[in-house]
Amino acid sequence: MNAHRLVLKISKDEIQNRVRALAAQIASDYQGKDLVMVGVLKGAFIFLADLIRSLDMPVEVDFIRIASYGTSTESSGGITLSKDLECSIDGRDVLVVEDIVDTGLTMRWLMGHLQRRNPRTVKICALIDKYERRAVEMPVHYAGFRIPSGFVVGYGLDFAEKYRGLQGIYEVAFDAMVEGSHAG
Ligand code: IMP
Repeated sequence: MNAHRLVLKISKDEIQNRVRALAAQIASDYQGKDLVMVGVLKGAFIFLADLIRSLDMPVEVDFIRIASYGTSTESSGGITLSKDLECSIDGRDVLVVEDIVDTGLTMRWLMGHLQRRNPRTVKICALIDKYERRAVEMPVHYAGFRIPSGFVVGYGLDFAEKYRGLQGIYEVAFDAMVEGSHAG
């Protein structure tokens, strides 16, 4: 892992306030609906846990696990499913709860996967809409925070499995490479 520092981007209080506001909006939009929230493991587990505790309505929770990043900060491009849904979403309203939408490729794949199960609706709630590298059109219906770029960790998000437990969201600042220290 390259030498790096963490720079605070979004504080614990800002996150809490935003999560409460998102939950209020979701509860009002889905009042009376048969809502299933599908958390995308692992990055969304803390966000989802906080969201449903602020949500003033009944909701079923399920999880799916996609592996697309490995342990680097760049997408490998390959998407695999390592854990599928356990509940039926046939005719139901699905809200996918994701940590970050970056290029959008993971979400495009997941939306296709979910649509084949006949849901009534599928929408996306992402903690972070990282929009600068978007490669495919992908609406984020509920976005916690919009940031253009940068690699962030904390509040469930990792860098090579580290930092998930941090209460705020931090940008990883990589120290400038020393001249001559890299091959080629
Ligand atoms: P996408 O397919 O490029 O949209 O990648 C989405 C996935 O990449 C997210 O669900 C994250 O798991 C991971 N990812 C993208 N950016 C970051 C980041 O800044 N920190 C941690 N994980 C990230």
